[in-house]
Amino acid sequence: MKEVEVKASTKSYTVYIGGGLLARAGERIRAIAPKAEKAAIITDDNVDVLYAESLMASLEKAGLTAVKFVLPHGEESKNGLGYLAIVSFLAESGLSRSDALVALGGGMVGDIAAFSAATYLRGINYIQMPTSLLAMVDSSVGGKTAIDLPAGKNLAGVFCQPDAVLCDMSTLESLPENVFRQGCAEVLKYGILDDAKFFDYLSEKGLGFDREYVIARCIEIKRNYVLADEFDTGIRRKLNLGHTFGHAVEKLSGYTLSHGESVAIGTAVAARAAAKMGYCSEMCAGKIETALKAFGLPTETNIKIDEAMPIMLSDKKRAGSLVNIIVPETIGSCAIVPMGVEQMKEFFSKGL
Ligand code: GLY
Repeated sequence: MKEVEVKASTKSYTVYIGGGLLARAGERIRAIAPKAEKAAIITDDNVDVLYAESLMASLEKAGLTAVKFVLPHGEESKNGLGYLAIVSFLAESGLSRSDALVALGGGMVGDIAAFSAATYLRGINYIQMPTSLLAMVDSSVGGKTAIDLPAGKNLAGVFCQPDAVLCDMSTLESLPENVFRQGCAEVLKYGILDDAKFFDYLSEKGLGFDREYVIARCIEIKRNYVLADEFDTGIRRKLNLGHTFGHAVEKLSGYTLSHGESVAIGTAVAARAAAKMGYCSEMCAGKIETALKAFGLPTETNIKIDEAMPIMLSDKKRAGSLVNIIVPETIGSCAIVPMGVEQMKEFFSKGL
């Protein structure tokens, strides 16, 4: 098992990466939240049938009264109604401030459950138990909590670090291969952003990479950005590589494209645009596109720039009239480039 320590200014916690964590979650949660008497599992209907029973048994065995709330799977559940249903359930189940919430599932469950934990009674303990690759390497770590609004993805949320993150590697076994591939878009992101050797390792190994090593390395890189800029006002924004255009693609597809697929398209568009605008070499952009394709990820879209622009402009990464766009310079280094509307339009048009 690997452990990554996250010593954020608001909370220190450990990310555990290994096998068998689900079955031992109860005793660990007992240690993390010693005053808790109840634990609420928030999950979705796909994950519920696979893992909730074993988690419930582990919590009960550790002396906690476990209750469970199940959302329909899919991004459509990550909204105001889903949020109100969760916090109402917590209230009806009598959870107090010293009790704990466990987010069991992928990114959608992690985001909305964390937002519920952060705001219910102005904040209760919460533990992330990500069951998808994407949630393990990105959304479960770093304290971003969110729900979507009709105007766009993740537009309401607060920063609130979890009390622990338990990545049970065995949950990846049940993940459909296409969903695992989608998570690889975020995995490749860390190599492009920060670590050329890691990028080369991923490009060479493809889907056969050492999962425990890769997940821990992604979390270490993410942890470093989170520690440097917990509240996302500076360097942490680099983690949004591929996300500005990606979120527009995801929304315009009516969420039929997954987050990972949309980020893959957004990353390829940003890389092609960066090469055409002289930020990086054609070779750098080519390597990025080749790696995305090697993982079976999409790199093209027929979405028009005029459709994407309004969505990109409502992005929460906007600062006044400027949007911070993450632009590859070399493999292992990206720049934050604030762009006005016309510059953004020119940049992304070049990448399409
Ligand atoms: N997912 C990007 C971040 O946590 O900052």
